[in-house]
Amino acid sequence: MQCSWKAVILLALASIAIQYTAIRTLTSKPFQLCTLPSPQNCGLGDPETDPPFERGSAGCEDYPYVYLNATRKTHVLVLATTRSGSSFVGQLLNQHQEVFYLFEPLYHVQTTLIPRLSHSHNTADRRVMLGASRDLLRSLYGCDLYFLESYIKPTPTNHTTDKLFRRGASRALCQQPVCDAFGPADLNVDEGDCVKKCSLLNMTSATEACREKQHVAIKIVRVPEIGDLRALLEDPRLNIKVIQLVRDPRGILSSRIETFRDTYRLWRIWRATGRKPYNLDLSQLTVVCEDYRSSVSTGLSHPYWLKGKYMLVRYEDLAKSPLQKTKEIYDYLGLPMDKNVEDWIHANTRGSNEPSAKHKFGTIRDSAANAESWRLKLSYDMVEYTQTVCQKVLHQLGYKTVRSVEELKNVSISLVQDKTFAPFL
Ligand SMILES: *[C@@H]1O[C@H](CO)[C@@H](O)[C@H](O)[C@H]1NC(C)=O
Ligand SMILES: *[C@@H]1O[C@H](CO)[C@@H](O)[C@H](O)[C@H]1NC(C)=O
Ligand SMILES: *[C@@H]1O[C@H](CO)[C@@H](O)[C@H](O)[C@H]1NC(C)=O
Ligand SMILES: *[C@@H]1O[C@H](CO)[C@@H](O)[C@H](O)[C@H]1NC(C)=O
Repeated sequence: MQCSWKAVILLALASIAIQYTAIRTLTSKPFQLCTLPSPQNCGLGDPETDPPFERGSAGCEDYPYVYLNATRKTHVLVLATTRSGSSFVGQLLNQHQEVFYLFEPLYHVQTTLIPRLSHSHNTADRRVMLGASRDLLRSLYGCDLYFLESYIKPTPTNHTTDKLFRRGASRALCQQPVCDAFGPADLNVDEGDCVKKCSLLNMTSATEACREKQHVAIKIVRVPEIGDLRALLEDPRLNIKVIQLVRDPRGILSSRIETFRDTYRLWRIWRATGRKPYNLDLSQLTVVCEDYRSSVSTGLSHPYWLKGKYMLVRYEDLAKSPLQKTKEIYDYLGLPMDKNVEDWIHANTRGSNEPSAKHKFGTIRDSAANAESWRLKLSYDMVEYTQTVCQKVLHQLGYKTVRSVEELKNVSISLVQDKTFAPFL
């Protein structure tokens, strides 16, 4: 009996590894295509094992769009966690005319490789997942959307699917030529309308739409630490700029309790009864703080491999001055901020009365104080507990702790300290 459960775990791990290997093998062909601009080489080997600049050069002539061009593509990576305001940051990029944006493609990797565990803490699972994630991101930055197909269930036929996760969050996938349901005048297609009115997503036209754009931006919430992306950041074929988005963990907790009602049920019981359930899954909180602490420490210690590629953004700063902060982000990316982005900010943040976008970005819309509305939603002992667990990261990111209920509930005093996080240039 004793060793049988071990055998089961081993078997499970082995099957995950085999699935991943199979997927890699099956999809290695598109990966050989020359899809990324690089002065030194066109053929793609495996950058993790091959010495740099000694890969083959087959296939370039078929892909003239990769020829070196003075305007190099920027590959924006928004590194976030769920409920940290990442949809808002995603929109700031999605609205740009010259950006092809994807909303969390790693969802498909996780659901395929690790179906039953939403947040696996197992080291082996995690390594498989991260390896697959890096491969996928590398392909997507090269506009190879076919690579994603092997992770979509059911597997797309004839390169079409209606199962791309949050397709409607991607402007380019709801517009011509990818979708004919909306005209060029429909600037802000609602995500739900897009899914309803656009027919199957044709991955070939999606790929073409991606290639038409100057830049590619991807938002991910499934990579816990920036160090896990190092191999990608050091890939000479890519030009990645990371935006690490952080939010006060107390705010994240509060928002998750509201949003993920089943998963965070015990936290709601704690809030309602004033007593912490003995079987509460504390890792739902501690994992955020540990990942933040390690990721932010890495980012702020400015390792050479992040030079020119790292900016930390606090959600609360963005909520307070959306326009100014967005300008700083675009400056860091080295891209001009276009009028679409500015218009979107005006329409969706404080001071706007447009009913159409109501509820969507409530936190941002209503005021900076609302970024701190968690203070009225969490009980004091929940806050106190969070502060104990997340002490280091709160300090690191400039979030003040409170020592009394009065201090917690008096929202006229902000808990967000003025702190500048300059991009690492
Ligand atoms: C580089 O690409 C841009 C946009 O695709 C194009 O307008 C420009 O002419 C290209 N420059 C060169 C030198 O090929
Ligand atoms: C895929 O395309 C082929 C050739 O056009 C067609 O015969 C087949 O029915 C298509 N399959 C599906 C599932 O649409
Ligand atoms: C998908 O789009 C491509 C090019 O845009 C087209 O050639 C192809 O026939 C389309 N596929 C389907 C199944 O409609
Ligand atoms: C909130 O804090 C401010 C500033 O310290 C203070 O003047 C005010 O009386 C406090 N409000 C309440 C309700 O305690």
